[in-house]
Amino acid sequence: MNSEAEILKKIDVILEEALKGLKNSRNLTELENNFKVFSGKKGELSLILHSIHSFSPEEKKNIGSKSNFAKKTIEDAYLLRKGELIAVEKSGKAARFIDLTIPGPSIEKIHAHPITAVLEDTVSFFSSMGFEIVEGPEIETTYYNFDALNIPANHPARDVWDTFYLLNGLVARTHTSSVQVRTMERKKPPLRVIAPGRCYRYEAVDATHLFMFNQIEGLYIDENVRLSDLKGILEATVRHLLGAKKTRFRPAFYPFVEPGLDLDIECVFCGGKGCGICKNTGWIEVIPCGMVHPNVFKYAKIDPDKYRGFAFGMGFDRIVMLKYNINDLRYLYQCNLDMLTQF
Ligand code: DAH
Repeated sequence: MNSEAEILKKIDVILEEALKGLKNSRNLTELENNFKVFSGKKGELSLILHSIHSFSPEEKKNIGSKSNFAKKTIEDAYLLRKGELIAVEKSGKAARFIDLTIPGPSIEKIHAHPITAVLEDTVSFFSSMGFEIVEGPEIETTYYNFDALNIPANHPARDVWDTFYLLNGLVARTHTSSVQVRTMERKKPPLRVIAPGRCYRYEAVDATHLFMFNQIEGLYIDENVRLSDLKGILEATVRHLLGAKKTRFRPAFYPFVEPGLDLDIECVFCGGKGCGICKNTGWIEVIPCGMVHPNVFKYAKIDPDKYRGFAFGMGFDRIVMLKYNINDLRYLYQCNLDMLTQF
């Protein structure tokens, strides 16, 4: 009969041979056979366990724990090799070989977001006419958002802009017109700038209103800027952006311009006949504008007797909607690829 030491030694040998045999198995059948020889019900390890009933409890415990360890190790090695052999069979290649030179899956390239695309086009259009791009803060003082634009506190005109007032007394700017006086303070005329950016209003969200939207402000100041300059430049702009052929200017009130105007284009959808989009008027309002009010010049410390200027502020998302015939503003902000890849 074998002693405890001999049995423990035998387990070591079985483990070593089993690991070698499993590792060298060349296919799944060979692997299964090898596994059975060592670890199956009638395998060598089981036979050893059957032969130890005459050992003392202490000896049984030692032999038992060693053989359990061997069994677990053999099982792990079996599973590992099995995985490798399955992968080899599937790919026909050595399982652990990873070819680092294979290019990764290609990422589908589409195009810029419609807002970005039209913004870039607009910016380059104005650049070509000598306009510079400027920016202002989205969190603004009431001074630049209202007072300096000739909209004093308690003036009813402030109600036109449904404003988010912050607890610290600042506001989320309601329009990019806030950039006007900031720019006039930094740059001496003559100046030609556009200021694109986000604006915020306390609005219930629907197909044509969001609490956040884009505007592009424009400002042109020189000694002899006239209404005809405004007309020429803005007509060229709507022709470029929307292919508009026919335009009209209507008087409108904005406290920071005098006269104030709204530029309408003939409806690009129905050709002026009247449709749902132009509310059967044949016209679509696109750019509010006007000649800079002398009071605004005074706030900016520019001499209103020496300089003239025009300003405009277009709702940019609306231009994008008209250009691409999108009937719900919310689509532009939903990041839905089904929609965005259509342009
Ligand atoms: N800031 C105005 C708004 O959001 C739009 C506007 C009107 C801007 C006339 C201008 C302007 O520069 O001259 O309603």
